[in-house]
Amino acid sequence: AQSGHPPMNDNKFMNIAHRGGSGYAPEHTLPSYQLGDEMGGDYIELDLQMTKDGRLIAMHDETLDRTTNGTGLVKDYTLDQIKELDAGSWFNRMYPDRAKSEYNGLKVQTLEEVIQHFGKDKHYYIETKSPEVYPGMEEKLLKILEDYNLTRQNGPSSRVIIQSFSEASLQKVHDLNANIPLVQLIDYKKDATITDEELDHYEEYAVGLGMSYKKIDEAYVEKVREHDLLIHPYTVLEKEDMKRLIEWGVTGMFTNYPDRLEEVLKEM
Ligand code: G3P
Ligand code: CA
Repeated sequence: AQSGHPPMNDNKFMNIAHRGGSGYAPEHTLPSYQLGDEMGGDYIELDLQMTKDGRLIAMHDETLDRTTNGTGLVKDYTLDQIKELDAGSWFNRMYPDRAKSEYNGLKVQTLEEVIQHFGKDKHYYIETKSPEVYPGMEEKLLKILEDYNLTRQNGPSSRVIIQSFSEASLQKVHDLNANIPLVQLIDYKKDATITDEELDHYEEYAVGLGMSYKKIDEAYVEKVREHDLLIHPYTVLEKEDMKRLIEWGVTGMFTNYPDRLEEVLKEM
């Protein structure tokens, strides 16, 4: 859809491991990403926040409280301080039936560490979170991707997709490097509708759209697909929802259970 872009993925359906295999391990930790990959995830989904000293880390929330034993805003702490924290014990307390002793004491990861660990042959689906809070986030992200040679001409072999709820953030990335496939996330407050004008607009810079699966119907999916935009609903947990969305024609989805999605894809 993006001007001058080859088709993204040879039409391969995308199983996107949301925060890793985060139904089974503490989100955004190495074991979670490892499980997401092993369970059939095509992309590792990774949310970005930025530390006081300007380092990009893999974390969903702007605050440390939910997924570490720290408190307060990520932006008020240096990476060294954040590396002191335990990013795994919360999961064991919250999900005793899925707890594992090795999750205790897991560290928060930087984006670079994740890329170093999993390598350049994996696929990463990276979200700029709260970009208005973190000036320079996009430049830092692109610098890291360039350093690891992950921004070459994309298309079927694309290794990285960048996603955001912030159009300004995506436009900034697009201005810096128009080759990187972008997905516009949309936070619908009620049932989703979309006009041709809106779709034409998204097509100017994005290859696809992401939105809550709870807000869409078959007509919405068809309309997005008529414009040749990818459509990746989030965050789908149950097999019956996965099946229905696939029948409607979505081109991938975010899930905490990539194994369930693999099973559904095999059964269909
Ligand atoms: O990035 C897709 C989906 O993850 C958006 O919601 O809050 O889980 O980042 P969130
Ligand atoms: Ca996300």
